Amino acid sequence: MTKKTLLSGVKPTGRPHIGNYFGAMRQFVELLNSGDYSCYFFIADYHALNFIQNAEEMRRNTLDLAIDYLAIGLDPKKAVLFKQSDISAHTELCWIFDTLVTVPYLMRAHAFKDAEAKGKEVNVGTFNYPVLMAADILLYDTDVVPVGQDQKQHVEYARDIAQKFNNAFGGRTSEGCTFKLPEPKILESVATVPGIDGRKMSKSYGNTIPLFASREEIEKAVMSIVTDSSGELPANVYNIHKLFRSEEELKPLYEANKGKYANLKKALIEDIDAFIKPLREHRAELAKNEKKVHEVLAAGAERANAIASKKLEVVKKTIGVK
Ligand code: ADP
Ligand code: TRP
Repeated sequence: MTKKTLLSGVKPTGRPHIGNYFGAMRQFVELLNSGDYSCYFFIADYHALNFIQNAEEMRRNTLDLAIDYLAIGLDPKKAVLFKQSDISAHTELCWIFDTLVTVPYLMRAHAFKDAEAKGKEVNVGTFNYPVLMAADILLYDTDVVPVGQDQKQHVEYARDIAQKFNNAFGGRTSEGCTFKLPEPKILESVATVPGIDGRKMSKSYGNTIPLFASREEIEKAVMSIVTDSSGELPANVYNIHKLFRSEEELKPLYEANKGKYANLKKALIEDIDAFIKPLREHRAELAKNEKKVHEVLAAGAERANAIASKKLEVVKKTIGVK
């Protein structure tokens, strides 16, 4: 029996945080290790170009994210790890999809609507973001896409675009429709990890606890969690704490320390540090050998390209340019 295909990506826009980890990246590792999927994990550098226009920063972030992938346990012998910009089929397929997707349809995307509502001048790359993401996903005949809640709509766009293409071109190949319809895979309990201010944890809100944070950074972040005493529990502390310890274990601790926020924050610091320390140390080891990381990405690009370029050939025949 052939395995199902799983694919996901992260933008190299800065250090990943525990929201990225619990919402998405931890699932990458677990699903890879389950042995049930052929896995592709990539660095969405062309998506990040919408936010980072500095070559040095782009290079650094990209290498850092590759090291992060390895540090959390994505084994390049088991999964294909690559960089989006190395595979030109992504942007080529994006263009082909652009000719099918309408402007009003893209105007319904949350990310575009948010940017508009904030009065930002939206570039075409941001507007087109879901189409490139659809190309990322559909090129590999992906069945499942593990992501956090905020990416659900984007996976739905990929499904719609696949369907649109299949309808427009009859989409028939000897194996069936040109594109498979992917499913998002979202873990409900951690679909939206809150930040230290109680809003969604996000690089763009500056409310994160970095995944590879130093002890000092953890202390600083936890001490600045906004404590809200309106409910039974200090919700912002508790909601982060329950990522690291079961609720059964937390109950007596929070009972015994009602209103004693400093004690609870201290306990949280210890729990986060105990969790992060081995990851941080493993990452520091891997970071010593950048050459090896570049080799991993080069080997991954070769494997990804073999699949992606074959798929693009099928698409080109289907649309009549080949
Ligand atoms: P950010 O919003 O911090 O810029 P990214 O857009 O790079 O994060 O997201 C990378 C992955 O992490 C995506 O799958 C996204 O859904 C997930 N993710 C990001 N923030 C959170 C969060 N606070 N809770 C759960 N998942 C998240
Ligand atoms: N948009 C995703 C994010 O912000 C990153 C991404 C790009 C992605 N292409 C993808 C995720 C394809 C899953 C599949 O996190």
